[in-house]
Amino acid sequence: MPQKNWIAVLDFGSQVTQLIARRIREQKVYCEILRFDTPAATLKARAPKGIILSGGPCSVPDAGSPACDPALFDTGIPILGICYGMQLTAHLLGGKVHASAKREYGKAMMRITTPDSPLFTGLDSTLQVWMSHGDKVEKLPDGFSVTADSENCAFAAMQNPQKKIYGVQFHPEVIHTPQGAEMLWNFAYTICGCEADWEMTSFIEHTVASVRQRVGDKQVLLGLSGGVDSSVVAALLHKAIGKQLHCVFVDNGLLRLNEVHDVETLFGNAFGIDLHVARAGDTFLAALHGVTDPETKRKIIGKVFIDTFAEKARQIGPVDFLAQGTLYPDVIESISPIGGPSATIKSHHNVGGLPADLKFALIEPLRELFKDEVREVGRALGLPGYVVDRQPFPGPGLAVRIIGAITAERLRILREADLRVREEIMKMENHLDVWQYFAVLLPIQSVGVMGDDRTYEHVIAVRAVESRDGMTADWYKLPYAVMDSISNRIINEVKGVNRVVYDISSKPPSTIEWE
Ligand code: XMP
Repeated sequence: MPQKNWIAVLDFGSQVTQLIARRIREQKVYCEILRFDTPAATLKARAPKGIILSGGPCSVPDAGSPACDPALFDTGIPILGICYGMQLTAHLLGGKVHASAKREYGKAMMRITTPDSPLFTGLDSTLQVWMSHGDKVEKLPDGFSVTADSENCAFAAMQNPQKKIYGVQFHPEVIHTPQGAEMLWNFAYTICGCEADWEMTSFIEHTVASVRQRVGDKQVLLGLSGGVDSSVVAALLHKAIGKQLHCVFVDNGLLRLNEVHDVETLFGNAFGIDLHVARAGDTFLAALHGVTDPETKRKIIGKVFIDTFAEKARQIGPVDFLAQGTLYPDVIESISPIGGPSATIKSHHNVGGLPADLKFALIEPLRELFKDEVREVGRALGLPGYVVDRQPFPGPGLAVRIIGAITAERLRILREADLRVREEIMKMENHLDVWQYFAVLLPIQSVGVMGDDRTYEHVIAVRAVESRDGMTADWYKLPYAVMDSISNRIINEVKGVNRVVYDISSKPPSTIEWE
């Protein structure tokens, strides 16, 4: 769907390019990331209201460093160069960039020297910015003037207001530049003349239209896990192509209590999606029989998953597309610095390695979004809170939470204990602040006493962590009363457990899952 009111970001490989797009979208203006070498003619034809040149890891003076089409600067479309983007602008327009191995990295205080620069309207005259660069602009191109400086950087920002070309050496898109969002607002609204017309509903309309166009009358397969990402893809694609979407849900027997039922009720019944449930719990359990090594467990589960998924896919019949819930953070590390956003794609952990007879083109409608944006899309599509606010759940399921051998009885104990952990924590008003919470079944038994009898039963560890992205985590300081009710309920209600302990380790050096 052609957008009338949008900003293009040309990606020179910065790890935070997507944040630029996100900040612009937060200001209700559509924004799309394109390759750094997108021809000026292509951009002119699509008529963005503005173009942002992102940062990047290369050095402008080096031969072979990525450059944009110089004709961009003659299109009359307003341009904002950020970091590498500013250096490139200076370089291509006749200024000079000084290559330096010495990096300036971190917070810096910047002084605005031209307060009436449209980019800086309404900002403090001295403000904190985030720098991350080695090279810097040494001489401005003709027609440009400096608009801000800092202790280490004489040209922290530059402008040529007649040509509507701006550059900033720092990163306005990161939170460490507290007034960065206002600068991007100034660029989008004051300089580019954008209007506020972008909502998550526009993302949905836009995606629905482009999926319809791409898929035509062909068929699409989606592995539904019940997690947020694949659930949102299912709802989105169903809206776009209805019965041409076929979802496969693999019940690996390692799911939490009621999960299969919930997925069938929501997607099969309520949404009316063509849902194929592969009930393969016994196959998984048989393959895992007697296995205690965590990595071996993972490998077995991965292989049986692929076999099960492939078998279902063959039963469904010829399909051209495979949809995946890949998000931007899944893509970001695999983008080569100078390849632009469409470079290598990390294969999804669930459906990577499908057999050769199953060849699909990929559809990844969420690959530009962050998790919280995906949740917003899910809500706008009418998915219930228990789906969009779901905590992350590992692909290998409860297998990573049963230490030692996996049996039907040990799965029962863990599932029942896990339900109590979830129910008690969800009673807390602020339970959405807890990133993940679950029970782990330990491979030991301990002595207890029940009535007059000595017991010798299982131990459950409770894990609750706070985290921003799962990469690091701290144990969550649950109120004692909540711990108390979790422990009481598990010991009284779950047959086979006589002891509950709380995990007080952070990641690193521990991990979130026990395995
Ligand atoms: P760890 O245990 O490595 O987990 O600290 C970090 C985050 O990743 C989740 N996790 C997985 N997610 N497939 C997934 O989709 C997996 O195989 C997997 N293993 C761990 C874990 O729950 C936590 O949120």
